[in-house]
Amino acid sequence: MSPQADCSTIKAGMVGMGMIFDETYCPFFERAHQEGLFDRRFGEVSVELAAVATRTGSRAEKYKAAAGEKIADFHSYAGEDAVGKMLEAGLDFACVATPDDRHFSAAKAILESGTHVIIEKPSVLKLQELDELVALAKEKNVLAKVVYHKLLDPDHKKLRTLYHDQVLQHVNNGYCTLLEPKSISGSQFAEWIKERNPGTYVACHYIKLIDFTFPGKLKTLTASGQRGLVGPEDGNTWDSTQLRMIYEYDSGREAAFDIHTSWVTPDNFPGYVEQEVQFRFDNGLWNGHSRKRGVECTVEDKTPITMKNSINNHYNGSFLEPWGERSQRGYGIEVIERFAREVAYVELGGSAADRAQRLEEMRGLHYNELAADRQTVATVQALEAILERAAAGEPDCIVRVNDPNGGLVLYRPGVAEPEVLYEGTV
Ligand SMILES: NC(=O)c1ccc[n+]([C@@H]2O[C@H](COP(=O)([O-])OP(=O)(O)OC[C@H]3O[C@@H](n4cnc5c(N)ncnc54)[C@H](O)[C@@H]3O)[C@@H](O)[C@H]2O)c1
Repeated sequence: MSPQADCSTIKAGMVGMGMIFDETYCPFFERAHQEGLFDRRFGEVSVELAAVATRTGSRAEKYKAAAGEKIADFHSYAGEDAVGKMLEAGLDFACVATPDDRHFSAAKAILESGTHVIIEKPSVLKLQELDELVALAKEKNVLAKVVYHKLLDPDHKKLRTLYHDQVLQHVNNGYCTLLEPKSISGSQFAEWIKERNPGTYVACHYIKLIDFTFPGKLKTLTASGQRGLVGPEDGNTWDSTQLRMIYEYDSGREAAFDIHTSWVTPDNFPGYVEQEVQFRFDNGLWNGHSRKRGVECTVEDKTPITMKNSINNHYNGSFLEPWGERSQRGYGIEVIERFAREVAYVELGGSAADRAQRLEEMRGLHYNELAADRQTVATVQALEAILERAAAGEPDCIVRVNDPNGGLVLYRPGVAEPEVLYEGTV
């Protein structure tokens, strides 16, 4: 469908076109290219992928050839200054989906150019980086946002609704697991896996879920992990990790949460990933299993290798719709679309004089606001510091939050002098 003549266009950029681009950004951009976005506040808007930046350019070229008419003719840049060249296209917003230790530099360049940005989880690895990006977004009057699609999972929305409405009262403790297959660490991420860990990569989903759903003050962090499969048994590349977070609530009562992650689950596991949570409250219990939501399907010669037995049809599924159309839909895509709508609202949702007010309104949406990601980034920073110490022969360190020595302070067993990871208040 061609856009109406007076339709405004929002130009988007994409940094990184790997697995998550294929699963969520690509279906969003293709649908937006076909249908545009409509909202009474900003009218009909055309959203086009205008330019992309990747490491080698090969995935971008492959995608362009395969997508054909499904997407606008975008520019592709690769190599050292790819992000800078992408920004010359004069974008309205750009998405960052590079490996997690490369989010900061791309996001910084995007914000410096005065472009709205959305960053894949975990936003950044250090509070110092978060501070810099938040200050830049403020200075340039643009949005800086982060994607945590699990907050849009209907099951997690229900959990938050019940807690918010005090049907479930005071969380005491809980556990979450997210186990990825070996193919992720062994082939998909082989280029960047060195000195990385599955906790930063996927525990951050549940760190955010807990932080957002049960808002309290983060107090203490501990972590352990195992090595020897993805990398050497005495190195800083981790197979699996176990993180514990302690929160304190206004009442003075505490809660403890354990998050276990791995990226060495056998590839013949029946689901794409294993995801389970349990939370215990003063007056109740919540058990959730995102893989076992009810579907089990077996296909000879396909399951469980090229196709999985248990399928998450809520995150990102491809369907033949009852009305004959092929679609790819789910909360993983919805979360990107919501950000595009936030940008459209800021830029086109009223008079120029009221733009600042609309910008503040969208910054107030804490589910994706970078400035509201502090406790999640603090947890990731602590996890990485504890694992790094463990790899250097000092296991069992503990990080305390907002204690007399600083905002994020690492204590080593038997060593009196603390290491301050972040001085400011978390
Ligand atoms: N929301 C989710 O559930 C989810 C799932 C998977 C990945 N992710 C996140 O998305 C990000 C990317 O993960 P992925 O699975 O797509 O990884 P991937 O390895 O499949 O793809 C990474 C992409 O980044 C590009 N890249 C690498 N370095 C770059 C650089 N310096 N400049 C420009 N491009 C560069 C590569 O060319 C590749 O296109 C990570 O932060 C990850 O945590 C999120």
